[in-house]
Amino acid sequence: MKDVYDAIPKVELHCHVEGTIRPSTVAELAKKNGRALPVGNVEDLYRYDSLNGFLEIFWFVQEMLADQGDWERIAYESIVDAVPHGLRYRETFFTPARHLRAGQDLGGIVDGLTRGLEAAEAETGVGSMLICDMDRAYGGAAGLELVDRLVELRKAGRAARVIGVGMDSTELGVDLHDYVPAYELARSARLRCTAHAGEDTGPLNIWTAVEVLKVERIDHGLSILEDAELTKRASAERIALTVCPNSNVVIANKVETLSAHPFRRMREAGLLATLNTDDPAMTDLDLGKEYRTVAEALDLSLQDMAAVALDGVEATWLEDAGKRDLRARFLAELEPVLSA
Ligand code: HPA
Ligand code: ZN
Repeated sequence: MKDVYDAIPKVELHCHVEGTIRPSTVAELAKKNGRALPVGNVEDLYRYDSLNGFLEIFWFVQEMLADQGDWERIAYESIVDAVPHGLRYRETFFTPARHLRAGQDLGGIVDGLTRGLEAAEAETGVGSMLICDMDRAYGGAAGLELVDRLVELRKAGRAARVIGVGMDSTELGVDLHDYVPAYELARSARLRCTAHAGEDTGPLNIWTAVEVLKVERIDHGLSILEDAELTKRASAERIALTVCPNSNVVIANKVETLSAHPFRRMREAGLLATLNTDDPAMTDLDLGKEYRTVAEALDLSLQDMAAVALDGVEATWLEDAGKRDLRARFLAELEPVLSA
């Protein structure tokens, strides 16, 4: 019988396509592209003691992506691998700074990803959109250049699946004010805006993303409860948090165990806190496992987890009609799960 947590229909709003690459695909891409792996089994690299330690490995895996076909392949596999665990819609990050610096073209990357997502959608019926992330290790000027190029592509009708921009990578030593021009340009081009914030740092980082960068969603937001006023504001304005509890334990090492994670308290404080995997292939995770482990560790009922899934729909960047349709579909799919 299907696992009950896999059977819950889900959206995912915080998942990096480069963090979904099957270990076997990493090995095949390395071979194809003439890149040596320092270990026989790529999973042996996947042990982290900090966010920055994780990023070293994430960047290494990113470097295995050499051409448009590689992007297409990982986008396709990222969806077909997640559907058995309940994925019904995803807004997926890609972070191309490293590849652009190495001479790849943003248009080619977006075309490859789009083709992969289209093929997966044709096969599974699960739709997905893209969020282009700025890599904070490259600075604000590179971020602005990236958004500028993205806006150009969209004007040329070539990036219809890219619906928003975000930022990820390190938080340490980064001044978010450097990214104001990039976010202003994105907003003026009607791109949606999000940012990783408060993963490795305190709530001031989240304040700045909301107040200065004016983002609509916060990725992680782990430290938000440390600031009561910010928590109140984010709750009142339904600013979505794309929370990744397993990642916070394994990648950022900011929470010792899942049972110490504030996810349940975030929801009890009225926050629109959603559940996501971040980099599932690099943490031996899938969406069903994320829901199951969090429910067990925090003593959340199946009903609670259904509410989390429905809040995911609200937090998407779908148009209102799209949200209504997806919510109706989720309610229909949830009915037999909850009455079993
Ligand atoms: N935080 C920062 N950078 C990242 C992450 C994350 O969760 N995942 C991939 N790159
Ligand atoms: Zn992330």
